[in-house]
Amino acid sequence: MNKIDSYAVLGFPVKHSKSPRIHQLFAEQTQQQVKYQAIEVPPEQFDDFVTRFFADGGKGLNCTLPLKELAWAYADSKTERAELAKAVNTLVIQANGTILGDNTDGCGLVRDLTLNHAITLVNAKLLVLGAGGATRGILAPIIDYKPETLVVANRTVEKAYRLAEDFKSIGAITPAGFNDLAGKSFDLIINATSASLTDELPVLPDAILAAGGNCYDLAYSNQPTAFVRWGKAQEACNSLDGLGMLVEQAAEAFYVWRGIRPETKGVIDLLNAERGMGTS
Ligand code: ATR
Repeated sequence: MNKIDSYAVLGFPVKHSKSPRIHQLFAEQTQQQVKYQAIEVPPEQFDDFVTRFFADGGKGLNCTLPLKELAWAYADSKTERAELAKAVNTLVIQANGTILGDNTDGCGLVRDLTLNHAITLVNAKLLVLGAGGATRGILAPIIDYKPETLVVANRTVEKAYRLAEDFKSIGAITPAGFNDLAGKSFDLIINATSASLTDELPVLPDAILAAGGNCYDLAYSNQPTAFVRWGKAQEACNSLDGLGMLVEQAAEAFYVWRGIRPETKGVIDLLNAERGMGTS
């Protein structure tokens, strides 16, 4: 009898995750037989759970907050993008039984920006707000596009300096505090702070978004986030939340696991329709 390949997203909490729905849609679309569950795993049980999951024949895992750093530490080997991020959102068992850790978040973000929304990163003036784990996950793929400037601004300025130091071998990052941004102008502002989770907004100077510029919040919600609302008030060309990134990082994980890249537009459109929101 053919056993269905088993996957899961682990988080704490994870009840509201859209990943099972997204992967079910990918599986139907690509006619792959897979099972994908959302499983709540407390951090202290993470290592034992993952070991058991793969020993029982599981093929791959996604890991979300607050487990991405634990997944990074667990993996036997890591892709370069996961190594730089110091966080893993995708685990896959390899033919020799070892576990490879990957990070598909940054790839998901740049695919959503560049392919789905035709937002230019090459030679652009970019600002990333926040210097925590979410920022680490997205910087390497952004730097690959060779922006003109890449400023990382954080409430705690020292963390932005540390991050610039950690990434200096792959590209130049200008660290800053929010006040240092006054008088500057950016083509794209990405919110990677966790402020959105409590519907708060980093305190930003006025007029830092260039005319025709775009705003992108890594967080997503069934209502426009505080940062998406701020972007609209700044008359951003697009003021987007991270639903597209969520679907794109899932598609990249599906590709890592199955070797097939699902089509994402229909899935993003469906999820946007289900939450009663358009695409921008
Ligand atoms: P994550 O993994 O989501 O990035 P994290 O590593 O804890 O979580 O980082 C959270 C980030 O959001 C940090 O950059 C944090 O700023 P500090 O380093 O100064 O704490 C930022 N952040 C959280 N709430 C914020 C707020 N209300 N205003 C501005 N920045 C905020």
